[in-house]
Order: sequence, then structure tokens, then C-alpha cells
Amino acid sequence: MGISRCDQSPAWALLQAHFNASGRDFDVRQAFAAEADRFGHWSIAAPELFVDLSKNRIDTATLDLLLQLARDCGLESQREALLAGAPVNLTEDRAVLHTALRAPAGAGLFSAEVQASLAAMLAYAESVRDTARSGITDVVHIGIGGSDLGPAMVVGALQSYTQPGLKLHFVSNVDGHDLAGVLRDLKASTTLFVIASKTFTTQETLANAQSAKAWFLAAGKSEADVARHFVATSSNTAAAAAFGIQTTFGFWDWVGGRYSLWSVIGLPIAIAIGADNFRSLLAGAHAMDEHFAHTPLERNAPVLLGLLDIWYRNFHGFSSRSVAPYHQGLKRLPAYLQQLEMESNGKGVDLQGQVLPYATSPVVWGEAGTNGQHAYFQMLHQGTDVIPVEFIAVKKPNFGAHVQGDLARSLADQHLKLLANCLAQSQALMQGKSYEEALGEQAPTASKTLASEVLARHRSFPGNRPSTTLLLDELSPRSLGALIALYEHRVFVSGALWGINSFDQWGVELGKALCNKLLPRLSNGDAGGLDGSTAGLLQKIQ
Ligand code: F6P
Repeated sequence: MGISRCDQSPAWALLQAHFNASGRDFDVRQAFAAEADRFGHWSIAAPELFVDLSKNRIDTATLDLLLQLARDCGLESQREALLAGAPVNLTEDRAVLHTALRAPAGAGLFSAEVQASLAAMLAYAESVRDTARSGITDVVHIGIGGSDLGPAMVVGALQSYTQPGLKLHFVSNVDGHDLAGVLRDLKASTTLFVIASKTFTTQETLANAQSAKAWFLAAGKSEADVARHFVATSSNTAAAAAFGIQTTFGFWDWVGGRYSLWSVIGLPIAIAIGADNFRSLLAGAHAMDEHFAHTPLERNAPVLLGLLDIWYRNFHGFSSRSVAPYHQGLKRLPAYLQQLEMESNGKGVDLQGQVLPYATSPVVWGEAGTNGQHAYFQMLHQGTDVIPVEFIAVKKPNFGAHVQGDLARSLADQHLKLLANCLAQSQALMQGKSYEEALGEQAPTASKTLASEVLARHRSFPGNRPSTTLLLDELSPRSLGALIALYEHRVFVSGALWGINSFDQWGVELGKALCNKLLPRLSNGDAGGLDGSTAGLLQKIQ
């Protein structure tokens, strides 16, 4: 294995020198003018998707240095260690093997256990989908973080693959409004609750599960009915049993929460889209795993994205990245990616516990296109921060079998508008509009009294704002699996170079502990010993 931290690599200083010499002032427009086939050179086909990197502030010299940095940091051996099941989550002594969950039968580590668990989960999902027999019309999935975001995002994305007459609901927030809103229209006799918690100790999930059970029993149901209407997905089967749940699908400590949708935590996905489609989701992810494991670094999509993240975060100093999926089904993708990236790489010390002298995870945020255009894109185009944007476009729409005739034609036309918007935004971010161009224009809604020079300054755009476009042929279980795996590996790559543990999340513990201490004070009003602000707020709440 190479050196453990990017700043110890000779390439780090070379990258800084290269940034000072030409990287800072790199202009994507000039790069296109100078490089005849910049698009061909800076785009790659990966499994199920195409990645256009050409509108980024990158050239061959930058990439060569970033690749040298990756090699110096032993990225290839770190990747091997991850895939071979070494305990890369060293603060918890755990392997990180979500890739084993999507390996074909007989391949991958722990294959026998993985396949047995998958088969049992899929068989159960199919039994629920047989609604004539199961009598289930609504499935309420209760979980939070990794036990919610992945399943909720995937079920939303694959709506056109779901079964009519069987509705999936996701409840995560400890705010009772979340559960109350879902329960309002449900009948206990036709509802199945899936309680998803790796640890089965998470306050929010257990509170929602207790309330759901209370609602269920209050509807005249018995404990025996609970056994048929509540199932759990957890690696803590004992705690699930103590809760009164008889059917628990278990999994292993080497499946991290934010990497768990491929495990039994994916039960609501399997119920929504069926066993065959769930297997396609796994197969798409596996195809990306193979690409990640075997493609040379310079053509490896997750590696290139991860290296670009380092270039932007540590040299350009860009502190956030916006994700704009131009597909309504992917509207929860930014929220999912927030946990994946920020819980993984939001770390301040290296593997030896030394405080890092450089920045790590960017803020990841976004909204489905075109909605984001009418909210925050103004800032992306003309604001004072440069924020790289990741566009995700899907070539072919899939509106579902109910969309026929004139409606199908009309929605197909809308899809072209959607794609045109997506392309136009990345084009506008790059091109910008010069002061001279703005000066030469007559904007119908612009002030007639303001000096034209002043107006032109308001109406010009700096341009040279970087973006990446990911293009999928269609949004299918297979392509979605590949897309998610692409992001998982990309997060691994930047984390590996930063020399951090991307697989723990100690930062969420302090708030949990303080919450447990504060909870009784909310009932008894005791503000003694608290800081002034917390004491003041507590008294206001009383
Ligand atoms: O937010 C912290 C966290 O531990 C996440 O990593 C995890 O996905 C989430 O809580 C839920 O945990 P569990 O599945 O154990 O309920």
C-alpha cells in the first residue's frame, strides 16, 4: 500500500504548482476551442451510463497529476482491500462488503449466506405482492438514514415498475406528523409494517414502530395479528423479537447503513418492483462494481469523478456540489447522496487520528430539474461562489402503461423540453454571457431608465462554471443500480485519497446522547446546569 494521505504525495505539491500556474485560470471555453475532440476525449461509457466530463476545468496535465496522486496513495491496493473484505472500517473493526450483496450467485464473498438471505427476502416480497392472498394494499416502511433514504429513493425512481393496488409509504421522522399523515388513510387489516433498523436501537424508528403498533392494536387487532402485520429488517434480531416481531430478515455488520439498500433493507424495494426487477437492480450495481474493480484508473468512471472531487475541493476550494437529476423519479437522489457522501466523507481526522490540514466532503445538495432552475439556479449562474453541477439526464421516458394516445404524445413532447432544459443549463453555465453581448441586447422586461452599461453588468454571466452530465438510456432497475454504485465508489475514491475512514459516523453520536439527556427535562422542566441558550429555549417550550 502507498502513502496514506494525499498531502504526503509528491503529486500534491505538483498539483498545487499546476493549479497556481494554469489551473486557477483554466477556461473551459478556451479548452473547447483548443481541443477539437474535447467531448470525445473527456467522456466515457461506463456500464448503463455515459459520463461527459468535458465541461469541467480539467486538462491532461491535471488528470496525469491526479492519477499520480491516486497511485501514490495506493488507490488500487485500497480498492483491493475493500473488495477483498479487509476491515477497512478500522474504528469499528469491520469489513465493508456491500459489493458482495450484488455479486452473482457463487461469486463474491459470503455467497451462500448472501444468496440464502436474498432468496428468503424475495420470496417474502413476492408473497406480499400476491395481494389476492396476502390481503395487503399498503406497506408502511419505518426506518431512518440508511434504513430509509436508499429504499425511499429507489422506490420513487422506479414508480413505473411498481404494482397497481399495492402502495408503499415511508415514515422516517420522529416528528409524529410523518406517521400520522400516512396512517390517516390506512386500514389496519390491509397494512403491513416493515420496521427497518440495522441496530434496532434508533430512537426515531423505535418510537414510530411503537406508535404504529399502538394504532394497529387500537384498531381491534391482537398480538397474534401483530406477528402477521409487522416484520423487521435488522442485524439485531434479538431486539426485534423483544419488540414483539416474529419475522425478522437479518443481515451482517459488514453492511454499512448507507450502503444497505442491496441487503434485506431493500425489502420495500422488492415488494414494490418484484423479485426479478430487484435482481436487475443488483446486476446493474454489480456491472459497475466490475468496471470499478477492473478498468484502468484513467478510464474508470468512479475514479475520474472522485479525482475531480479532490481537484475541486482541495485546489479550487469549491465547497459544495449541486446534483440536478432531470427526472422526477430521482427527486430524492440528492437527499440520498447527502448521506452517502457527507456521512461517509464528512471527517476531520486521518486514519491515525491526526487532524487534517485540508478540506474533505463538499456539501452535496440539489433538486430535480427543471424545478431547481426556478429556485437556486440563479446563484449557480451569477452568484459569487462557483458550484460544480452534476446533471443527470435520461434519454427515454417511461410513463407507465396507462399513458397512451394523445397523452403519450404530449408527454413525449414534454420529455424533449426536459432534455432541452438540461442541456441548455450546462451550456449556459459554461458559455456565460459577456458584458458586450449583454450591452448589445434589448431585454423587453429590463428597465428603460437605468443606464445601459449598468444594466449590462446585471445581465452578464461569468460562464466557465463547471458541470458533469451523466446520461442514462432509461431509468430502469439495472441502470439505477449502476448509477448508485457509481456514486458509492466515487465517494470511496475521494475518501481513500483523503486518508479518512469513509465508513464510520461518530459525528452523529453526540447529538443522540445529548437528546437522551434532554428528553426527561422536556417533561420536568429542569433547566439546571444547562448552557444559557438551551436553558432559555427549554423554559420557552415549557
Ligand atoms: O445517522 C446515523 C445512523 O447510524 C446512520 O448511519 C444509519 O443509516 C441510521 O443512523 C439508521 O440506523 P439504524 O439502521 O441502525 O436504525
